[in-house]
Amino acid sequence: MSARLVAAGTAAGQQPWSRPAPAQEQPWWRSAVVYQVYLRSFADGNGDGIGDLAGLRARLPYLSWLGVDALWINPHYPSGGADGGYDVVDYRAVDPEYGDVSDVEALVADARQLGLRVVLDVVPNHTSDRHPWFQAALADPDAPEASRYHFAPPSEEPPNNWRSLFGGPAWSRTPDGRWYLHLFAPEQPDLNWRDPVVAEDFERTLRFWLDRGVSGFRVDVAYGLYKDPELRDNPGSYSPTLFGHGPEQAMTWNQPEVHDVWRRWRSVCDEYPDTMLVGEVCLADLDEVALYSRPDELHQSLSFRLLKSRWETPAFAEAIGSALDAFGRVGAPVSWVLGNHDKDRMVSRFGGSETGLARARAAALLLLSLPGSAYVYAGDELGLPQAHVPDEAKQDPIFFRSGGERAGRDGCRVPMPWNATAGVGFSPAGAAKPWLPVPAEWRRHAVSRQTRDSGSVLHLYREALAVRAEHPALGTGEATVSTRGDVLTVRCTGQGRTVRCVVNMGTDTAWVRSRGEVLLESGPGVHTSAGSVALPPDTAVWIAED
Ligand code: NOJ
Ligand code: CA
Repeated sequence: MSARLVAAGTAAGQQPWSRPAPAQEQPWWRSAVVYQVYLRSFADGNGDGIGDLAGLRARLPYLSWLGVDALWINPHYPSGGADGGYDVVDYRAVDPEYGDVSDVEALVADARQLGLRVVLDVVPNHTSDRHPWFQAALADPDAPEASRYHFAPPSEEPPNNWRSLFGGPAWSRTPDGRWYLHLFAPEQPDLNWRDPVVAEDFERTLRFWLDRGVSGFRVDVAYGLYKDPELRDNPGSYSPTLFGHGPEQAMTWNQPEVHDVWRRWRSVCDEYPDTMLVGEVCLADLDEVALYSRPDELHQSLSFRLLKSRWETPAFAEAIGSALDAFGRVGAPVSWVLGNHDKDRMVSRFGGSETGLARARAAALLLLSLPGSAYVYAGDELGLPQAHVPDEAKQDPIFFRSGGERAGRDGCRVPMPWNATAGVGFSPAGAAKPWLPVPAEWRRHAVSRQTRDSGSVLHLYREALAVRAEHPALGTGEATVSTRGDVLTVRCTGQGRTVRCVVNMGTDTAWVRSRGEVLLESGPGVHTSAGSVALPPDTAVWIAED
């Protein structure tokens, strides 16, 4: 048992992680499979129709059975409820809808017993407008709290041309006529990181949760925090996408000072063995993204290229090759993402119905072969499609702020179907309606059904995770990517062994020459004949080379 594996703040006598990495191996996070739990939609323990910590705790055995290494939980803090918890009222507390701090401690302890690490979300770019600091600043323009935000004196026009990512101007008025900055919803005022109190308070927050045994943080809007000191106009026209900001928004994002924050946060984490920071860095230039993961900054930054790629070999090859190159240059692992709570579900992105599902299955093998860490969004292991959420049930500020022009993100946030009953087992029997309506046909995607079906997506994920754990070439090695027409090949090498992940993205069966052993296939119809593997359309295989 290695001392470095016991999280700081762990009560004496608690068992360490059950799947520790031997001391000579790489840190766990470099190749971890991290399961993203959208807390509100995962499992409802108390029957109010809202997912919570007790519900998640009860489902930990499922995650252990699946074989992931860690879970990242979307914000669990008391919140104004304007942006799915990303408008935080108190960073060192738990929203009563989800439980309390002792539930987080119990979750961490239970997870540890199962060999699972818990990563929290932290939101440093903005608070809720209900945060006591913002309330104090509203009440008194001269309060010290006012300098922790970006206020401007009353004037006819807003201070500059900045736009909110959710639509409309990035400035709103206070009741006394001042302007304040919010790069997201008006209920999410941006913090002024040039006030040292802000930095001090966040370091307290990090320690508060690290002392409770969490294994790190996913850092929201890590490319934000600092703004141009003179609040100059952005030079270019605003493009209303959630990801990939570039020089046209040079004054709002990616200011050089932010890197010092990550250096300080890294040194805080360094005091807590085996913890990590993974940043959300939505910049168009991948080399700029990678800079956030230099050795003394965030341990990793999420790579969203695959999430945005069309089902075509050039797009996927570019997404993989450019990320390997950019992160390789700073010595950081790539953190691959195929789905999250901000994007349409991949089954639907890849064409929907059977085709979309076949592609999503193939994409899962691709994701889990690549060197680095892999982020799996809850429900993707069930092959959930984007849900239709009627307008009257929608919650996402993107829908409202765009006047209904943008559908918003509710369709990828619908509660998990656990069983095939009418309520899909999300809540205990007799509970309130779920916070977002679950489509009736989702019963067929239920965990209970898929666990009984060896051909299900769920079993594919489970098998892939088990094979990945056995083969160092998968996840921990090095990789090269190549294409031949509609066939994409990622050649992964680790500890002297090679595994190829071959994906047929075309419409005809492809023949792949191989003398190796097929370890796993994403769908039916794969067969070997005379030293070649027949790969049906929208199918992937893992082949261990001799
Ligand atoms: C990124 C989060 O993933 C998204 O859900 C949120 O709306 C914005 N950051 C603002 O916090
Ligand atoms: Ca609940």
